[in-house]
Amino acid sequence: MTSPYEVLGVDPDANEAELLEAYRQRVKETHPDQGGSVEQFQAVRDAYEQLRSGAVSDDGTSTDEPRASSGAETPSEPDSRPKTVTVEYLDYEVLDDHGWSLGDDDLFERARRADLDAETHGRFAVEPGETLLEAAENNGFAWPFACRGGACTNCAVAIVDGEMPPPVGHILPEELIRRGIRLSCLAAPITRDAKVVYNVKHMPDVAEFLLPASRFEKTYSRQRDR
Ligand code: FES
Repeated sequence: MTSPYEVLGVDPDANEAELLEAYRQRVKETHPDQGGSVEQFQAVRDAYEQLRSGAVSDDGTSTDEPRASSGAETPSEPDSRPKTVTVEYLDYEVLDDHGWSLGDDDLFERARRADLDAETHGRFAVEPGETLLEAAENNGFAWPFACRGGACTNCAVAIVDGEMPPPVGHILPEELIRRGIRLSCLAAPITRDAKVVYNVKHMPDVAEFLLPASRFEKTYSRQRDR
C-alpha cells in the first residue's frame, strides 16, 4: 500500500512547510482539470491530513499517537465554541446587482436595508456539532456543495465578521485563508455571532480551485453501484 509520504513525494523527516509545499504541488498535479482524477486528488488530501495530524510513523504506517503540531490550521475543539452560533448570511451572487463588494464596511447594513428574500439574506442558528453547511441545510437552505470533504471548493464562504478556523487538509491556499475564505462543509464559526457571505465559489480567485460537482456525482454513483 502506498504510504502518505509516497503519495505526497516527501521524506519522512519533512517539516510542516515542506509538507504544505508538497501538498500544494501534488494537488495541482492531481487536479482533475489538469489530467488527474477525483480519486487521486482525494488521496493527496487524505495523505496530507494524515501527516499533518501526525498519525503516521516514519515507515508510513498508521499510529495512534498524534505528533505535536505548530497549532496553525488546527481545527477548533468542539467545546471551544459557544453553544449556539448566530450566523447572518448573504448570497455573493447579489453583490454585483447592487453594486456592493465584499470589502464594503457596511455590506450587511446595506443588505438589511435592501428588500432581499430569505434565501439571499437572513440569519440562522448553528447548533453544536453542525457544520455551517449542515446548519444552512437544516434551516431549509440549499447552499452549494459537492464533495463535503474539503476538496472541491463548491461550499466556500467568506467570513466578513467573526471567526471560523481553517481546517486541516483543505484545498484553499494560504492567501485565501488570510482573506477569510473558508469551507462550510468542514466547520462552523466559533464566535457567538458571525457574518458570512456564501456562494463565493463564483469569486475568480476561488473559482480557480473549483472542482465541478458533476465529478463527485460520478464518484458517488460508482460507489452506490458497487
Ligand atoms: S463541499 Fe467540497 S469542499 Fe466543501
